[in-house]
Amino acid sequence: MKNNVNRRNFLKTTTAAGLGLALTPGFVLGRNPSNSQGQVSIGFIGVGLRGRSHLNLISGRDDVTVPAICDVDPDAITKAQKVLRDNGKKEAEAYTEDANVYRKLLERQDLDGVIIATPWRWHSPMAVDAMKAHKYVGLEVPAATTLDGCWDLVKAHEETGTQLMFLENVCYAREVLAVLQMLKNNLFGTPVHATCGYKHDLRGVKFDGVEFGEKANNEAKWRTQHSLKRNADLYPTHGVGPVAKWFNINRGNRFEYLTSVATKSEGLHQYIVDHPEGGPDHPNAKLDWKLGDIVTTIIKTANGETIVISHDTNLPRPYSWGFTLHGTKGIWNGQYEGRRIYIEGKSKQHQWESGDDYDAWMKKYDHPLWKKYENAAREAGHGGIDYFTDRTFVECVKQNAYPPIDVYDAAAWSSITPLSEESISLGSKSVNFPDFTGGRWIKREPVFGRSKIF
Ligand SMILES: NC(=O)c1ccc[n+]([C@@H]2O[C@H](COP(=O)([O-])OP(=O)(O)OC[C@H]3O[C@@H](n4cnc5c(N)ncnc54)[C@H](O)[C@@H]3O)[C@@H](O)[C@H]2O)c1
Repeated sequence: MKNNVNRRNFLKTTTAAGLGLALTPGFVLGRNPSNSQGQVSIGFIGVGLRGRSHLNLISGRDDVTVPAICDVDPDAITKAQKVLRDNGKKEAEAYTEDANVYRKLLERQDLDGVIIATPWRWHSPMAVDAMKAHKYVGLEVPAATTLDGCWDLVKAHEETGTQLMFLENVCYAREVLAVLQMLKNNLFGTPVHATCGYKHDLRGVKFDGVEFGEKANNEAKWRTQHSLKRNADLYPTHGVGPVAKWFNINRGNRFEYLTSVATKSEGLHQYIVDHPEGGPDHPNAKLDWKLGDIVTTIIKTANGETIVISHDTNLPRPYSWGFTLHGTKGIWNGQYEGRRIYIEGKSKQHQWESGDDYDAWMKKYDHPLWKKYENAAREAGHGGIDYFTDRTFVECVKQNAYPPIDVYDAAAWSSITPLSEESISLGSKSVNFPDFTGGRWIKREPVFGRSKIF
């Protein structure tokens, strides 16, 4: 990978390169793919459930090698090695000694990029260290849990010139990309309002039985603690990411301020009380859960749209991203919200189009990427969206291309957690978003969904 050494040296010595890239997204720096072997080398930090899902997709490709993986849980490492063997790849060197051993993995010279899929509190520090080590970062959601963590990411990118792709996979949902096409073709006129959210009954994920923390496994080991300690939209990016792409946030538009309100917290307590392994006398039934069962956030954008985001993870309900979009010429309700559309002058007056009529709209505006890779995506997780996310990441690493979902997106979308927390604590007062782009949002052009890669 001698071209990569040149690329890394170049990036190390050109702080301005990062700023230049920030100004000219889509610009491709470094090695010329047509001169390369077409191979990239990716390391993995965190090979739990999500990390292994990425590992399976990425190591299944002929153009990727995975020489190094890191996880503090030896069992996760064993399972990850099996994923590599099953995909016909060599076992990777494993880094597992302690919580900071990922830094040793980052010292390797043979890695072009890393995927980070660890518990939330590790995302920002690990991504910062990875950018400082000049590894192209693929970072799981959310990018950070604090405003400082968001700023750390932006500063590390600008100081090192190293790229970070935020792995917000819902941006690649078929209907999300179809709506992007519809907006480009002015079907909805001027967009005015959208709703979105993360509406997922996570009670069975937040607890092993009724236990969490050290007595539990997987996400119950670390994720539940956030519901105990914080009253905020803890997981905003699945919903707001796609809307941000529709509304060109950070590229001609920006989030200006938000206000958030939380319901009382009943769901997790009730779950423990009702569970056969719990009951009213179980110690966890005595806990004071900070997270309101439904946290509703309203964002006002610089271009005048509003976005309503719902965080709804503690009550019984079917899954939904809550997507709706309303413009001057029509309205759309997405996959989990009725699958219906109304376009003024085209739909029967005041009547929703649903069923086959809805499908015909979606087919007409199907994104070219989905048309092209539909079969390849079919086997991948979350209805195919993970295929597009990981494919985009690998292609970006190969070409050292500017990512379509970048560090400014990661920071702005993830900052909703600390900002919503602040707003709730202030009795729902509005709270301003920082401008992570330093004013460059005004001139940056939209790129997402507009190139052959993404
Ligand atoms: N985009 C999506 O659709 C999606 C889906 C699931 C999870 N996620 C995200 O992926 C991340 C991981 O979630 P998960 O479900 O795999 O959780 P998990 O608990 O199954 O896996 C996390 C892994 O990180 C390891 N880890 C913890 N601290 C570490 C450290 N200091 N160094 C190295 N390894 C460490 C753990 O041992 C564990 O194996 C989370 O941020 C979650 O929000 C995203």
